[in-house]
Amino acid sequence: MGLEDQLRILRLFHILGAVTVAGAVMFNGLVILPALRRIPPAQATVVAQRVGTGLMYLGWAGLIVQGITGIARMERMGILRPFFTFEMFDTAYGRWLGLMVLAWLLWLVAAAIQTFWFRPLLLRRMPYTTTLRDLERRRATLERISTWQERLSYATIVLALLALLAGGLIHA
Ligand code: HEM
Repeated sequence: MGLEDQLRILRLFHILGAVTVAGAVMFNGLVILPALRRIPPAQATVVAQRVGTGLMYLGWAGLIVQGITGIARMERMGILRPFFTFEMFDTAYGRWLGLMVLAWLLWLVAAAIQTFWFRPLLLRRMPYTTTLRDLERRRATLERISTWQERLSYATIVLALLALLAGGLIHA
């Protein structure tokens, strides 16, 4: 397969990945979170867990596809090594690409915090020996985590918009 075809296929999957991952965070932040605020807490927790699992897998799949297709494109285009030089950021192209990669890296950190720190805490079951004071402490912890979970969800929307902006203006 020629270089042109490789770049064309990588671009197709890069754009599909961008649509998938940006779509997932916007659906979560602009549709799911506001809807959960209008549902009684007990039901909201169940809905958040069920819908959250699907969005989590979709988000991770999109982020991994973006990383692999993005880095493969840079390698195929011969700009992977130059990317790690200061000269690259003397150009508008390099700065837009840098913004795209930075947004992706911060997004990866936010997704890891949500998946591997907050989620296990939210899903943890209390033992039968739990006292009222434990329950109260747990309720306060869940409230704090939900607040930070929401803040991270809105931060990832901003990161998605920045990455899309960079992709849209990289050739402008
Ligand atoms: C490690 C992360 C990423 C790398 C290395 C990367 C790399 C690239 C490269 C090399 C291009 C082609 C630039 C050109 O045409 O010369 C590109 C384009 C683009 N990227 Fe990324 N990207 C990454 C993450 C993302 C993310 C997270 C998004 C959005 C959610 C995104 C959206 C786009 C868009 C919309 C374009 C322009 C359309 C296209 O030619 O594909 N990228 N990216």
